[in-house]
Amino acid sequence: MREKIIAGNWKMNKDAAGTAELIEGLKAKCPSIPGNVKAVLCPPFTSLALAKSLLAGTQFELGAQNMYSENEGAFTGEISPLMLKSAGCTYVILGHSERRQYFAETDSFINSKVKKAFAEGLIPILCVGETLAEREKNVTDQVVTTQVKGGLAGIPASDAERIIIAYEPVWAIGTGKVATPAQAQEVHKRIRTITAELYGQAVAEKIIIQYGGSVKPDNAKELLHQPDIDGALVGGACLKADSFSAIIQAAH
Ligand code: 13P
Repeated sequence: MREKIIAGNWKMNKDAAGTAELIEGLKAKCPSIPGNVKAVLCPPFTSLALAKSLLAGTQFELGAQNMYSENEGAFTGEISPLMLKSAGCTYVILGHSERRQYFAETDSFINSKVKKAFAEGLIPILCVGETLAEREKNVTDQVVTTQVKGGLAGIPASDAERIIIAYEPVWAIGTGKVATPAQAQEVHKRIRTITAELYGQAVAEKIIIQYGGSVKPDNAKELLHQPDIDGALVGGACLKADSFSAIIQAAH
């Protein structure tokens, strides 16, 4: 059975003091992570080193919110996979809809980062999802298919089976409008089918597919009990120890 992975995307929130406060709160509320569940914190780059030291000896793992597709060089303002690894990251979120929308990230650019993440031993959390206009035009399937295939282009099955795909309908992000469990399950199943077409059913069955978009303690359990929903990528509700630990517990 696939494990459940609950990741918190802090986005552009929390300075050093806020990071320490949240992590101390999580350690108090969640002294151990339930069996078959993994919990990942993705704070901003500036908080990674502090988070790493505060999380020592806990079961929480660390991820970043983005990276560049080169190890080093003249790329002002960018962060490399080697830097993320040395800061203690195991995971890296790639292709979040906010990066696609505000920073014009394309599927091919995101794909170059997915390849680089695997090359350097990081696990990518590849985000996909349609906008409200796309859902209303009934093109969710095409949009998600293009993003999944684009993100996975040239990735061998041996890497693909370790990817995490986060289905985050853009209309559900930060809006309080959560996809119904049935709506989410339908797209998750479709993503599983797309990966099966690319890599075969055995690989597809191993891939963790997270749901993201207004996940809260009161809707987490039902979402997480859908057969193809293997975790959550949580925004707003991960910024409070109470609500993020409740979502972690709901995954059990
Ligand atoms: P919210 O949980 O705030 O809707 O954000 C979801 C998200 O974008 C996680 O990456």
